[in-house]
Amino acid sequence: MVGAGSRGGPPRKKGSSGRSYRAKTGLTIQPKNMRGRKPSSNRWLTRQLNDPFVAEAQKRGYRSRAALKLEQMDDKHKFLRPHAAVVDLGCAPGGWLQVVSRRCKLDAGKAKLVGIDLLATDPVAGAQIFEGDITDETSLDMITSAIGGKADIVLSDMAAATTGHRQTDHLRTMALLEIALDFAEDVLTQGGTFLAKAFRGGADGDFMTSLNQRFEKVRYLKPAASRAESVETYLLATGYRRPEDAPDEQGLI
Ligand SMILES: C[S@@+](CC[C@H](N)C(=O)[O-])C[C@H]1O[C@@H](n2cnc3c(N)ncnc32)[C@H](O)[C@@H]1O
Repeated sequence: MVGAGSRGGPPRKKGSSGRSYRAKTGLTIQPKNMRGRKPSSNRWLTRQLNDPFVAEAQKRGYRSRAALKLEQMDDKHKFLRPHAAVVDLGCAPGGWLQVVSRRCKLDAGKAKLVGIDLLATDPVAGAQIFEGDITDETSLDMITSAIGGKADIVLSDMAAATTGHRQTDHLRTMALLEIALDFAEDVLTQGGTFLAKAFRGGADGDFMTSLNQRFEKVRYLKPAASRAESVETYLLATGYRRPEDAPDEQGLI
């Protein structure tokens, strides 16, 4: 319902609670036809419409605001190198694939890019994209073979579908993170990079121990485009030490 502002300002739309969304959220752009939608959908839409990163991603032709997160992390840490072989786990709708395609110069034809998601992803020039579940062994075999058994960079922006139960959601996303790391350990080349979504409060002790043993440097990142109120964070691990290339106790390889 559209009502006139009581002080002669522009008309205010009201949320299903009857209170003005603008008054409640401080956000100025509001979705049309708020009635008939769930309050949670209205909250999500309002946030999207007021988010400068959503507007910037759209302006730059990216399919997701997540693309800007990857750009920001790479601007600072420079891990997307030209002609690298890259795997993107949880790639839909394809924002990260677009960034990798540009930064790794896929058009030059030397780079390899393989993505996988539960959902269908529209094609991205130069990328080979699979629809599948990474918890399924055959999906992992499929992408391993598509990348030729070796990748310089493994990315994972996977998030489990939320249940509303915080601890369950955390555990499910952490399980995806562990599968992503196992996969990375199989395919990463010596010196390779692993970047994966995690949760603030973080990965458990065993996971971090294994990450620190396998990589030279491990950092938590929070790019500006990742909402401050979100528990989302990213783990960047660089300098992979392949077990067969690691020096033994006498320092011999
Ligand atoms: C935040 S989105 C990724 C956004 C992407 N980086 C982009 O820029 O467009 C997370 C994705 O993880 C995917 N995902 C979650 N669980 C998965 C699984 N078991 N196997 C494959 N993909 C999964 C979801 O379907 C979802 O598309």
